[in-house]
Amino acid sequence: MKPLSLLRVAVLSLCAAFLLTFRCEAASQRQRLSLDFGWRFHLGDDWPNALSLVNSGTGSGPAAQSFADSYWRTVNLPHDWAVELPFDRNADGSHGFKPLGAAYPRNSVAWYRQTFTLPASDRGKRIWITFDGVMHDATVWVNGWLVRRHEGGYYPFSEDITDVVHLGGENTVAVRVDATASEGWFYEGAGIYRHVWLDVTAPVAIAPNGIFVYSTFPDNVPAGDATLHVRARVCNTLGTAAKATVTCEVLSPAGKVVGNFEGTTTAAAASDGAIDLVSRLASPVLWSPESPKLYRLVTSVAVGGEVIDRVVTPFGIRTTAFDPVRGFLLNGKPYAIHGTCNHQDHAGVGEAIPDALQAFRLERLKSFGCNAIRTSHNPPTPELLDACDRLGMLVLDESRLMGSDSDNMRKWRGQIRRDRNHPSVVIWCIANEQFAVQDTPVAGRVARTMQDEANQLDPTREVTYASPEGDVFKGINSVIEVRGWNYHYGPEMDRYHAEHPNQPNVGTEQGSVIGDRGVYTTDTKRGYVSARDLVWPGWSTNAEGWWKYFAVRPWLSGAFVWTGFDYRGEPTPYWWPSISSHFGILDTCGFRKDVAYYYQSWWTKKPVLHLLPHWNWPGMEGKTIPVDVYSNCRQVELFLNGASLGRKVMEPNSILSWNVTYEPGTLSARGYDAAGKLIASTSEETTGPAVAIRLTPDRLAIKADGEDVAVYTVSTVDAQGRRVPTADNAIHFALSGKGQILGVGNGDPDSHEPDRFVPHVPLRRIALKSWRWKIVTTTPSRAEAPEYGDHFDDAGWNSLETGKGGGGPTIEKPDTSAIYRAHFSLTAKDLQGAGAQIYFSGCDDEGWYFINGKFVGETHDWQAQPIFDIKKFLRVGDNVVAVGVKNDVGTGGLNPDVAVEVVGHAETPPWSRSLFNGLAQIIVRSTRQAGEFTLTATSPGLKPAVFVERTLPCKPIPAAQ
Ligand code: GAL
Repeated sequence: MKPLSLLRVAVLSLCAAFLLTFRCEAASQRQRLSLDFGWRFHLGDDWPNALSLVNSGTGSGPAAQSFADSYWRTVNLPHDWAVELPFDRNADGSHGFKPLGAAYPRNSVAWYRQTFTLPASDRGKRIWITFDGVMHDATVWVNGWLVRRHEGGYYPFSEDITDVVHLGGENTVAVRVDATASEGWFYEGAGIYRHVWLDVTAPVAIAPNGIFVYSTFPDNVPAGDATLHVRARVCNTLGTAAKATVTCEVLSPAGKVVGNFEGTTTAAAASDGAIDLVSRLASPVLWSPESPKLYRLVTSVAVGGEVIDRVVTPFGIRTTAFDPVRGFLLNGKPYAIHGTCNHQDHAGVGEAIPDALQAFRLERLKSFGCNAIRTSHNPPTPELLDACDRLGMLVLDESRLMGSDSDNMRKWRGQIRRDRNHPSVVIWCIANEQFAVQDTPVAGRVARTMQDEANQLDPTREVTYASPEGDVFKGINSVIEVRGWNYHYGPEMDRYHAEHPNQPNVGTEQGSVIGDRGVYTTDTKRGYVSARDLVWPGWSTNAEGWWKYFAVRPWLSGAFVWTGFDYRGEPTPYWWPSISSHFGILDTCGFRKDVAYYYQSWWTKKPVLHLLPHWNWPGMEGKTIPVDVYSNCRQVELFLNGASLGRKVMEPNSILSWNVTYEPGTLSARGYDAAGKLIASTSEETTGPAVAIRLTPDRLAIKADGEDVAVYTVSTVDAQGRRVPTADNAIHFALSGKGQILGVGNGDPDSHEPDRFVPHVPLRRIALKSWRWKIVTTTPSRAEAPEYGDHFDDAGWNSLETGKGGGGPTIEKPDTSAIYRAHFSLTAKDLQGAGAQIYFSGCDDEGWYFINGKFVGETHDWQAQPIFDIKKFLRVGDNVVAVGVKNDVGTGGLNPDVAVEVVGHAETPPWSRSLFNGLAQIIVRSTRQAGEFTLTATSPGLKPAVFVERTLPCKPIPAAQ
């Protein structure tokens, strides 16, 4: 297809999507607004007293609505600040050597602030805020009101904030994120790394995750009509009962209305009402990874004849089952799971994976025949499941922890309710490798409770547990519906199956091959492993080993390989300087390691023929180089510079190898089918040195919605235009126009180059150490008193020094006031910066603040720690700060711990990244303005590459502003 027609297709499908969205939203009061844009971000726990549990609505520091955050960095979500930190060899390697955790308090807490307005016309509606995931613990204030404390990085949380928002005015959300704790033994990131939403609904509306739609067929085999089941939960926040009519319209994958049914439910005052509806769907189009056709259920709620809410739920019609003899069944037929386990982590961005990058990652997995993912070891982000539904990928949906306690069960229920409409999800997983307890009766009981709950909430899917055991039928394994197998393939598995013939099985985790892209010699010092499918840790096996076993045992259902993508942390078999895993079939960027061709050979039908290694081996002339061929051709013949090195027969699920005496030139292979017909050929050529850079985007145009991303492959070519597989040039990037560089990577597990280049703001902090003060008889106010004056003589006043008991009260009686004064000096350079702020640590009880005689602000809460922008009041040389304080009760005064911070202009270092074995990646995000951006890549001695990418007009997700 030509680029132009590609663009046209993109525009047409966007238009179709708008029409559908518009049609569904009309007449409903529901609005889903993105809160992803324009957050202010500050790293560091500089306001330890912000959380007050003494009084309500009194969050101080950044939690207060009035806080001045104008010099904080602006970030859009998703955001992961861990990926922005430097590597530190003393930090925890299993988490990727990022300086986070108890030993690094300065890096482990950060603040995010966001403001938005709501129209006065929202009066009477309900306003919800939803965080899809914050790593790790979050404290959330809205307009200074504490609305939520949430622990755990993988579960979403929502709050109804109707009572505390300002309608017809500005609202502030402040989030303190504490990433000190961790849950996994792998990189987990830090920050608001998933989306944040503001949902506005009618007071009677479909409850959050309140729709469940599923289909059934007789004998669980799709034939003829499907029975469609809809369970709807309506939440009523009114003080009186509400009778709601729930109408369901079913749209086919082609957008035609193919079903319409309704019922009524009465929700008591301040309660939920539920309704179950059943209908028939004639000759449905089935969903599968190969044909991911989606229906839509449009559920409307009407009260008193007026439609007030409407929700669109994409769903798919398919049946799934795990059978003890036939393995996994999709739509009634055996369907081998060619799966991969994956953490949520990508080069350049860490955990903060934009939706478009989720789709990119799935496409990379699909390219080698992967048809299923395991969301190891946590619940996924919803947009990943959306992409799996749309692109066709099965999902094993995993819980973080096991537990039948109320908190874990609440999380487990939430996960199932949120994810159960996705046709891609085919099995629930209660946990991974609970070594300490898994064989105990207690763990068996806990597993059964979780499994029963899953069955109750979702009658269509089975439940498994990722068990790291062989022939053991105790505890969890003895109660779980589908036996999961982490490793332990071989005779033990056969024995177990023979002993428990009625329990279905699935390989929840297999493989764990280690190897690095483009590396053919293991180098333990520098931390590299050969990519030849030869190295694996003690508990696992190579690709050929496990797959040969599983391929001939359909009852095993297939398996999930550890892992699809490399991820930060767990640098097995090394430690520093290795900072990311070596397990991936793809590296952290999604570039293929050779083993991807092994899987592609046996997981897909089209001819595959792949040679390794590359053929650039200067200095190796006359020496032997082992050459492997990954292919599904029946026979393969290898040639060096045209001379045949022999033809070999490929046994199913195997690898072919030759020992070749190296000489530069062309190493080539031809593949034949069983009848001897040539069906594939490939070659590796010795290249010349790199002369030019090449930029190859994954797409020629992206949406101008501020969320879409283009992913560029960066490589170098020789004079004949051939990619140089060993190039390691440092490449520099510049971008202009309607885009923003998000991150860079190269898949090198030992690279310590930054993935993100973030603005640095120079700061000069001036502590105001010496104060003068005196009791005054008139109550201070914002009116200019002589004591606030510029040149007032305070020489005779009391003195107060910070750090010398200065934190104690100076006003000893209630209803008494005092004035405090201090001086600081500024240079001309200070005043040329971006701004200046003054930070107060507390003023008990009320304060009026002046700089050089000019009023800058006031506070009326002893816990407030105000910050004021003061640049406009400042001058070169001596400056004076004066504070009038009124102590209302007890003792009081000014906390003299005050600092002035002079803020310089932000400087963003230029973006760069070295190639690793010939490749690097750069990710660019669109802005919300249509147009184009120009990406330039340069490197000394190489011809630069310039790429102009279009950003297409679209209807972006509405954003709260
Ligand atoms: C498994 C574990 C994974 C990963 C893997 C490495 O036991 O479930 O999370 O650590 O080992 O081989």
